[in-house]
Formats: sequence, C-alpha cells, structure tokens
Amino acid sequence: MSETQSPNAGQVAYWNDLGGKTWAELNELLNRQIEAIGLRGIEVLAPSAGERILDVGCGGGQTTVALAARVGPGGAVTGADISRPMLELALRRAEGLPNVRFLEADAQVHDFGQGQFDGVFSRFGVMFFADPTAAFANLRRALKRGGRLVFICWAPLSENPWMSTPAAAAAAASDTPSAGPPPDPTAPGPFAFADCDRVRGILEGAGFDNLRFDKVTAPIGGNDLEDSLTVALRVGPLGARLRENPQLAPRVRADVRAALEQRLKDGKVWMEGAVWIVSARAP
Ligand SMILES: C[S@@+](CC[C@H](N)C(=O)[O-])C[C@H]1O[C@@H](n2cnc3c(N)ncnc32)[C@H](O)[C@@H]1O
Repeated sequence: MSETQSPNAGQVAYWNDLGGKTWAELNELLNRQIEAIGLRGIEVLAPSAGERILDVGCGGGQTTVALAARVGPGGAVTGADISRPMLELALRRAEGLPNVRFLEADAQVHDFGQGQFDGVFSRFGVMFFADPTAAFANLRRALKRGGRLVFICWAPLSENPWMSTPAAAAAAASDTPSAGPPPDPTAPGPFAFADCDRVRGILEGAGFDNLRFDKVTAPIGGNDLEDSLTVALRVGPLGARLRENPQLAPRVRADVRAALEQRLKDGKVWMEGAVWIVSARAP
C-alpha cells in the first residue's frame, strides 16, 4: 500500500515510522498493560467455534491470536493493519497457526469482500480514521447480516490517570503546561472516540444498529518500575511531547519515576484507566 493512495496517509506514515516502531519495540510491555481489557472486549464479542473474525488495527497480533483460539481450527481470523513493523511482529506471533492471516490494509477503504465476517473486533485500533463514518460503513459491508462489531477505545484522558499522571509529573518538573488532548478532540488519535455521543453518530451514520456503550474502569499496568517508566516516557501524550522536546527528558525523568513509584503495588505499577467497550450489529 503506498502512502499516497491512502486517505490516512499521515497515519500510514506515523505507524510505519516512529509510532509503529516504538509500539513494536515496546509491544510486550504494552500488551501486559492492556491484555486484560482486550480480553474483556473479546468476551463481549463472544466469538464461537467456526466463526470468521476481522481484527482491525491488529498491531502486534496479541488479540488476533486470542481470537483465533476462540474460533478454533474450523474458524478463521484476519488481522488488518497499516503498519509493517507491527505486522511483522504479528506474523511472528501467529507463526504456525493455520487459522490466522494478516493483511496490510487501510480498514477505511480496503475491500474485505461483502458479508465475509461474523464479527469485527478492535482493541484501540479504530480511532485513527480520517473519515470514521466511511470506515465503519466499509467494515459493516464486510460483516454478514446480523454480524457483530465490538471495539475498545479510550474514555477521556481525564479518566485515564495511567496516561495523564506521568504527563502531569513531567509538566511540573519542566515548568511547562501538561500535554492534553489535541485542540480538536475529534482529530484521529487515542482519544478521538472519548465522547460516546460522537461515536453513536458515526456508527448510526455507517448503518449499524443495536448500539451499546459500556464504560469499563480497570487498573492499567503490571510492569515493574523501570519498564513502566520506559513506557511512560515513550508512549502517549508524554512520549509525544518528549519526542518533540528531547531536551526535557533528563529534567523530567526523576519526577516521572517518583510519580510512578507512588503507584507501586507488589513491585508492579498500576493506575486507573477507563475505556468504552462499544458493540453494535450490522442489520
Ligand atoms: C494503538 S495501536 C493498537 C494495536 C493493537 N490493536 C493492540 O491493541 O495492541 C493502533 C493500531 O491501529 C493501526 N491503524 C491505524 N489506522 C489504521 C487503519 N486506517 N487501518 C488499519 N489499521 C490502522 C495502527 O497501525 C496500529 O497498529
């Protein structure tokens, strides 16, 4: 897929360069933080033996492989992503699994075929579309009639201390304002779907019905202090700020570490997080 063909060229570039490479490098640490919440989403989708499932923005494939175990040898799971570094990781993870395949594809426009899937799933992979209504209409076409859509997206940053706490500690240490959501809260990015009324409009506009929004709060973490510090300094709003202002990193490191240290429990850092588990049906 060439970057210029995609309506999401900026995201294709980002997830094939810094974004994708960082996520690929830190994948095991990130997976540890979000595995449990992903499994809750899979429970809501409730895939059964023999079903065909599409995992959108599958990244390193942790959820793709979990879905494959649920549908068994008679079923099939397709992971779709725009990021080569992530797909390479996913391919390695799923090596030897005959019921898994991966596509390098922009889910907003890729022709998945009509009525090919019983379910469409995503863990944090659907908030990056330039035209979300068009993207979900495309995903609805890929579903059979009555097919299920389930995805997990972040609730507002203010309800996700695991992301805002390191950013606030860094802001205090560097005497600069804390990184917040982008000025346009609907711009593609991790918090683009924080407002469930907006998501309702997108999904209804894309032709879905039986919409359901469950706010789930859960501790996010599970890494030791040093690994948690690595993730905090390289991913999310603080990671973005430090990439733009690398000179701040030595100044903020000790204070971010101290903020995380306060959240240590049995040697692991845990902080509150909040997501939406969104489900819908293709009529
Ligand atoms: C935050 S990561 C989540 C990855 C994975 N689902 C996980 O939970 O580990 C977002 C993923 O969405 C992918 N993505 C972004 N826009 C996409 C698009 N238009 N089509 C397919 N994948 C996309 C990115 O490449 C990235 O792998």
